[in-house]
Amino acid sequence: MTTSDDVPASIRQEVEALREQIEFHNRQYHMLDRPVIPDAEFDALLTSLEQLEKQYGLQSPDSPTQRVGSEPLPGFVEVRHEIPMLSLEKAFNEEEFAQFESRAAKRVEIEGELEYCCEPKVDGVAVSLIYRDGVLERGATRGDGAKGEDITHNVRTIHDIPLRLIAKKLTGTRIEIRGEIFLGKRGFAALNERARTQESKTYINPRNTAAGAIRQLDSRNTAKLPLQMFCYSVGLVEGLELPESLFEIFTVLDQWGLPTNADRKVCVGSHECLDYCRQLLQKRPQLDYEIDGAVIKLNQLSLQQELGQTARSPRWAIAWKFPAEEKSAKVLDVKFQVGRMGTITPVARLDPVFVGGVTVSNATLHNMAEIKRLKLHIGDTVIVRRAGDVIPQIVQVIERGENRVKVKRPKKCPACDSAVERDGDIQFRCNAGLTCPAQRKQSVIHFASRSAMDIEGLGERLIGQLVDAEAVKNVADIYNLTVEGLSEFERMAEKSAANLVDAIEKSKNTTLSRFLAALGIREVGVATATALANRFGDLQPMIDADAEALQQVPDVGEVVARHVREFFDKPENLDLIAALREAGLKWPVQEARTPASTPLAGQTFVLTGTLERMTRNEAREKLVSLGAKVAGSVSARTKCVVAGESAGSKLTRAEELGVKVLDEQEFVAFLQQHGVKI
Ligand code: IVH
Repeated sequence: MTTSDDVPASIRQEVEALREQIEFHNRQYHMLDRPVIPDAEFDALLTSLEQLEKQYGLQSPDSPTQRVGSEPLPGFVEVRHEIPMLSLEKAFNEEEFAQFESRAAKRVEIEGELEYCCEPKVDGVAVSLIYRDGVLERGATRGDGAKGEDITHNVRTIHDIPLRLIAKKLTGTRIEIRGEIFLGKRGFAALNERARTQESKTYINPRNTAAGAIRQLDSRNTAKLPLQMFCYSVGLVEGLELPESLFEIFTVLDQWGLPTNADRKVCVGSHECLDYCRQLLQKRPQLDYEIDGAVIKLNQLSLQQELGQTARSPRWAIAWKFPAEEKSAKVLDVKFQVGRMGTITPVARLDPVFVGGVTVSNATLHNMAEIKRLKLHIGDTVIVRRAGDVIPQIVQVIERGENRVKVKRPKKCPACDSAVERDGDIQFRCNAGLTCPAQRKQSVIHFASRSAMDIEGLGERLIGQLVDAEAVKNVADIYNLTVEGLSEFERMAEKSAANLVDAIEKSKNTTLSRFLAALGIREVGVATATALANRFGDLQPMIDADAEALQQVPDVGEVVARHVREFFDKPENLDLIAALREAGLKWPVQEARTPASTPLAGQTFVLTGTLERMTRNEAREKLVSLGAKVAGSVSARTKCVVAGESAGSKLTRAEELGVKVLDEQEFVAFLQQHGVKI
């Protein structure tokens, strides 16, 4: 190989020309949806560039050949934002917007109408991009607003993000572009379609998928996802002058090849802003990306500067939040599903509708009482609502079907035919336990799930086949599966079978809390399992503990203690545990933590809104590990409310009651003070 120093100038020029050409076509294809050459020609250009770069040692991080990702990094590097990344104040109605506007007008002492730049509020993940001399230098997550993580390696794989800006005079400049990375609705649907055909786990919603994708150590994983981006502001600017209004800045960014949202608009006065929001709300279903509102910003930068910011958010912008998306759909049938614990839930089968970013063909009806409340019959047309990662709900019946059919309560279990019993006022239950194939399937699905044993590749469809074929009668049988045996199953190529066997093997090295959560003890989810694991350190002391000792554990009350005891009192469950251990499942034994080593014992926390640096479940686990209880609603007894992004009524309630509120940054610091790793 030639070293890059003695590369002929003509080769350098050719490489440069190819890079420019490829980036041009990349932009035409990915951002403008207007490819001008066939895919094969594009691939040929890329191959030529790859060959030249390799032959002459000209690989460089800003080359389009790098968009496929590279070797995994050992860990994330923390970066400090030179200008903090703030969040936004929210308005849920006209009145709240009017308050925001009059506050702003008073501060800047303007009597006439203010000029705004309005944009869709894209439901994705914030990112900061730094370009030095017009070349992408660093990409970072928002993190807690002050510090984020370096995700340059992942950002480079996103085709919307130019590796170099298209502008001649950027030498000596540094500019920070901020925006939202997201997965489009079509991209998300395609991704799930692929996951379904490959029998791997489907993704819950575009936002979480995008958030997970940009925090990969291995950028080749990020490159597999069709991530997109829209710029929404500029942070630090050095060595160049930008126009005086945000709207004009967007025009410049657009010319530089950065992705900007064409649905932005300048609006004068609150009436125009309101009209903009109404129109955007109407247009929402046609947009190819999820939005949860509009962002209304003062257009003039001089006014933005004059208004400044509070600790959390700028005074010159507000997020106008939209309600969850709704669509109408016809109820084709109502089926009954049997859960892991035998609970029978009615589920409406719908004529498929695209709502909230996914195609919905099933919606839960919760129980028979809900069907009665809705006065729902098969054949009716209903309103379906879907918000974020929530299961689709039926809001109301809007049209009665002509030949509507009443929904009858189930008399027999739809899976095993055994008699159905009433459980309390509104629930029905199949008490056949693990002899019922539906409960068996659900218990295996639960065991393999992400928050339990996390067995990649053991999806619902395959579990259904394995249970039906009696290859898996209980969860311990998973550990007897072989590549040969698995290859017999539908759509199981030898490679996927081998990967699955590897994943099963890997799952044997687990933690006590995962193992406990995987067992599926009634009401013992991840948080309770963590609390139990922390208190007892190992399984045997837990099996030996009486109900009273169990109740010493934070998060465990009388009912949960009874469920735990009932579980360990059944010999068949102890046999199952023995079989799993025999198969090689093991976990590190921890030191048992007494109540004194749980500093938040007796304190109740409430989590609300979206956290950027961890999921709500992880936050819950961390609090529980310190001995706190995590409740679902705020009362005067609540010690503290942790309010993430888009926190709503719980935050308002906390403020009314004078309960302490921590934002994400404060929460992270609080956890760190207590020795919790983030
Ligand atoms: S402006 C000072 N504009 O919403 C904050 N944000 O709730 C500047 N977002 O962290 C944000 N679309 O990640 C702005 N058009 C848009 C946006 C947008 C989505 C996100 C962003 C921000 C969060 C605030």
